[in-house]
Amino acid sequence: MSTHKKKELIICSLGLFKNQCTLEVLAHIKTCDIVFSHMLDGEISRFLKKLSVRIKIIKNLKPDKTAQAVVSAFKEFDKICFLTYGNPMFLNATTGYLKKEALKTGVKIIVLNAVSSFDAIISLLGLCKFSDIGIRVVDIASCIKDVVVTPEMDTLFFMAGDLNLKGNEKYKNNFIKKLMAAYTQSAEFFMIDTKSIATNSDTLIKGNISDLDKYFSKVNERTTLFLPAINSK
Ligand SMILES: C[S@@+](CC[C@H](N)C(=O)[O-])C[C@H]1O[C@@H](n2cnc3c(N)ncnc32)[C@H](O)[C@@H]1O
Repeated sequence: MSTHKKKELIICSLGLFKNQCTLEVLAHIKTCDIVFSHMLDGEISRFLKKLSVRIKIIKNLKPDKTAQAVVSAFKEFDKICFLTYGNPMFLNATTGYLKKEALKTGVKIIVLNAVSSFDAIISLLGLCKFSDIGIRVVDIASCIKDVVVTPEMDTLFFMAGDLNLKGNEKYKNNFIKKLMAAYTQSAEFFMIDTKSIATNSDTLIKGNISDLDKYFSKVNERTTLFLPAINSK
């Protein structure tokens, strides 16, 4: 593969929905040869087409294969944008592979910041201060078989929807059982699905740990579960 100096890969995102797109992201999109994405809906595609941008949607490919497909397009193009949602590097397997693949070829990589679900959750819950020993961010996908629970500190469980996938019933039951044992029954949980390209408004389900089992079916692929520390000041 040619490693022409001016070849550039822009890893970027619109944020959680189109109106969160930054001027910086827009400027790069306007000047790239092609935008690759794995998550374009009709509205965003129309928006990009208005900017006269060539678009290629990649769906049904595993993250590593998506990354390889994007990087191999440098045979044809000089400036490629890869568009995702949220913070483009935060818990995003595809952009992780993409960065790794692109590094092998010597293309210039630019990662642009964008609004993450993490930001939206902080705003929605008004989390201006955390428990005294801080906040823990857990990626359920990477520890699904045995999630460590820490009731002494605030915890955000990302990828909680994986527990509702077929075949993971055992892990879900184990997770709920662990939480019930570690937290007081009246401890609170928050299930958060903020406004995004998938939903037009914020959804916040609040309950007590004793009812977690009852509500767990509401956890979807966008839900983040927040458990405030118990006995936190
Ligand atoms: C693969 S990660 C991608 C996160 C993304 N890079 C970001 O910055 O938001 C997907 C997880 O992020 C969280 N998430 C994504 N969209 C969300 C939303 N609209 N509201 C709350 N959490 C969300 C959920 O925990 C979900 O399982």
